[in-house]
Amino acid sequence: MAALGENLLSVVNKLQDLVFNTIGNDSLDLPQIVVVGSQSSGKSSVLENIVGRDFLPRGSGIVTRRPLILQLINVPSSSSEPDNHEVHVPHTPASVAGHDEFAEFNHIPGRKFYDFAEVRGEIENETTRIAGSNKGINRQPINLKVYSPHVLSLTLVDLPGLTKVPIGDQPTDIEKQTRTLITEYIAKPNSIILAVSPANVDIVNSEALKLARYVDATGRRTIGVLTKLDLMDHGTNALDILSGRVYPLKLGFIGVVNRSQQDIQSNKPMAEALAAERDFFRMHPAYRNIASRCGTQYLAKTLNQTLMGHIRERLPDIKARLNTLMGQTQQELVSYGTDTFTGKEHRGSLILQLMTRFATSFISSIDGTSSEIST
Ligand code: GDP
Ligand code: NA
Ligand code: MG
Repeated sequence: MAALGENLLSVVNKLQDLVFNTIGNDSLDLPQIVVVGSQSSGKSSVLENIVGRDFLPRGSGIVTRRPLILQLINVPSSSSEPDNHEVHVPHTPASVAGHDEFAEFNHIPGRKFYDFAEVRGEIENETTRIAGSNKGINRQPINLKVYSPHVLSLTLVDLPGLTKVPIGDQPTDIEKQTRTLITEYIAKPNSIILAVSPANVDIVNSEALKLARYVDATGRRTIGVLTKLDLMDHGTNALDILSGRVYPLKLGFIGVVNRSQQDIQSNKPMAEALAAERDFFRMHPAYRNIASRCGTQYLAKTLNQTLMGHIRERLPDIKARLNTLMGQTQQELVSYGTDTFTGKEHRGSLILQLMTRFATSFISSIDGTSSEIST
């Protein structure tokens, strides 16, 4: 069952890629995980921990200024035994990947990044190129793929935080603009919302939960993530929230501890940070008993299971969309005619044919698994 799930996810990832590269958008609305929250709540830190590599710009203030669509693609390890869906705990310095781990940007086709510090540099360059260098926000996404034997196959979206007061080049209606941008991503019924709230701010003021509730009133597809548990006032804890007694979310709340600003400045290795996070929960008098349901690793597993369930639920709809898309594709093929293609048109028609073939096999793979899915 797990193997089937992984296959399904990898097919969905491939399809998303293909649709993006041919139609230039994600008109299939395939399932993905979207991170929302107020500025500096820890969104980028959470994502980075899930991937297990230092590669995202993080920090106080407005850092994430364009949506980042991040496809994690699990590939078999070239050397050692297959990774058993564990979150990556790197043995090498966290910015340098092994040979079997690399990243690729849509805007630089064919270039493989093996150094994740360079990935961060490129995200920063690309952000500045489109959104300027003075705190501006732009809605045009950056597409990044990470291939690794140590990741779960997931599509994640990092977004700018909700911004209340305009600074730098931000227009006066920045709050409305960020709200619209975020809502656009989380409103899709097949988005799983990772609603990030810092534990050191009263949960009733959580922008993440307000936004999530707006598009997912029943809390069916929202996972609450509580960051900064290490920064709560002494003598207080978040046990009530984590056990679901304060705010109702069907998928629950998961507490995490990310690296602090000081950890970032001192380049604290990720392996150390993840180990410290585990110890934090195991030793903490309030969290000791729920330690196995806390932390980054548990969050990654929960995400994967949730995404899989979500894909199964959405399969009939995805299939219907694919059929429509194929119909359009075939019409386009007919309009090209069949003989003497040259240059661009020829390439276009080849891509369309490939896509049709792929979509057909995708649909039959869904049909092939549908009996297992319904049981
Ligand atoms: P974003 O703006 O929501 O993407 O937040 P970032 O991931 O950029 O983090 C903002 C700041 O909060 C950074 O300085 C992080 O080091 C810090 N931070 C994030 N999560 C935690 C946490 O769990 N504990 C501590 N102590 N600091 C955190
Ligand atoms: Na930030
Ligand atoms: Mg960020």
